[in-house]
Amino acid sequence: MTNKDVGEYRGRTLRRLRRPRVLLAATGAVAAAALAFVMVPNANAAASTLGAAAAQSGRYFGTAIAAGRLNDGTYTTVAGREFNMVTAENEMKPDATEPQRGQFNFNGGDQIYTWATQRGMKVRGHTLAWHSQQPAWFQSLSGSSLRQAMIDHINGVMAHYKGKLPYWDVVNEAFAENGTRRASNLQSTGNDWIEVAFKTARNADPSAKLCYNDYNIENWSYAKTQGVYSMVKDFKSRGVPIDCVGLQTHFTGGSSLPSNFQTTLSSFAALGVDVALTEADVTNASTSQYSGLTTACMNVPRCVGITVWGVRDSDSWRSSESPLLFDGSGNKKAAYTSVLNALNAAPPTSPTPTTASPTVSPTTSPTTSPSTSPSSSPPPTGGTGVILGSQSGRCIDVPNSSHNNGTRVQLYDCHGQTNQTWTYTASKQLTVYGNMCLDAAGSANGAAVQIYSCNGQANQQWNLNSNGTITGVQSGRCLDVWSTSNGAQVQLYSCSGQANQQFRLTAR
Ligand code: XIL
Repeated sequence: MTNKDVGEYRGRTLRRLRRPRVLLAATGAVAAAALAFVMVPNANAAASTLGAAAAQSGRYFGTAIAAGRLNDGTYTTVAGREFNMVTAENEMKPDATEPQRGQFNFNGGDQIYTWATQRGMKVRGHTLAWHSQQPAWFQSLSGSSLRQAMIDHINGVMAHYKGKLPYWDVVNEAFAENGTRRASNLQSTGNDWIEVAFKTARNADPSAKLCYNDYNIENWSYAKTQGVYSMVKDFKSRGVPIDCVGLQTHFTGGSSLPSNFQTTLSSFAALGVDVALTEADVTNASTSQYSGLTTACMNVPRCVGITVWGVRDSDSWRSSESPLLFDGSGNKKAAYTSVLNALNAAPPTSPTPTTASPTVSPTTSPTTSPSTSPSSSPPPTGGTGVILGSQSGRCIDVPNSSHNNGTRVQLYDCHGQTNQTWTYTASKQLTVYGNMCLDAAGSANGAAVQIYSCNGQANQQWNLNSNGTITGVQSGRCLDVWSTSNGAQVQLYSCSGQANQQFRLTAR
């Protein structure tokens, strides 16, 4: 890799949003009388882990995980504490998942999936069609038989993980540095191989967001960036299903942060796709480049999250460049602090008005059926109480006791004050403060859950299901959180049966 624009990054410094914190000092009867008027102490103090800090703006912070390191206690302690998204570093690639034609092996991928999801983390799928890390049998094919093998591979792997992975890197690294298609055996099957891969993937798992992923596409004025941009624009204009672009963000191997990175992210996003930083690492973990890349993502609403390519320097594929956030002993480096501060400085995601269309591209199927049929189940609990997340032990809370339309709700330590007290009504509303409703700002995966004046519409109606989930009547999707921390924002997500979607209205 050669690159470009050594990072003289002029990131916008965002003013930290400070929330008032008022101590409850009163006692006894005075306290009872005073409670109604006292502002509840609340979240939005700086979060202390990468995942929780990212969750404050509805984003994730992830890492690559290697199955072979899951028995290393330092590794799993740091990874389990800091991250809420995981990418298998090698275990879901074609050579790992289909070592012989038609014989799939998901041992490594499943190990990582289980480790992550048991901790409430999500997993990005990586990757289905790539010129590299192909099994030998695949490399020996060409023409229509190679094309068919690619299709069969996508179908086989996506069927195994169907409904489980929010994102898949369907095609990886298909462009050359000059912005034309990279020469490869897949490219030799015909220029339409990429769109065939995406169409196959959409049919195989309509719930997954489908990404194109590449390196050296961070600099907006670079030919390769423009080549990928043109392809995504073309796909969107012709209805080829694509939902996201992954920018690997390897500022190693000679690359560095370009000053126009944010322009690149916002330009891709303007095509109607999510963007994500999927494999970040930086030579010698430059603090300015790490904070710059983080801020660039925070400044783009459709930048959904950042993944670093490994936990400790010693785990990195480029360990000689010491490019990660933790040293070989698992200690936080200066770059860690610079990233954490940039995450904590992010503005909360701007709430989408209730009338807005969903934020995912229209090619994404709007609704995935939950695994149970919630609307037929009578609510197991009802009345008035807190909405308790079973994984976190925390309650759904209106930050700052805000009464403003569009305030996103979050997880916070349960205290049962009015900003955590919800009433389930006969018309399936969950009301707070008497006249405001829990409201879905859209129906797609990732849609914000907020408070809004009650208006009787379906995006304000909820089913309290006997399986412990709460689903939106309009979307069919579950209340869901990315993390268990104070400040984790609540969103809609396809029901997965996982612990981060278990919420109960519980009388207190
Ligand atoms: C790398 C892994 O980190 C290495 O362990 C492996 O030997 C080679 O692949 N772009 C990608 C990643 O999309 O899958 C690559 O991961 C790094 C470059």
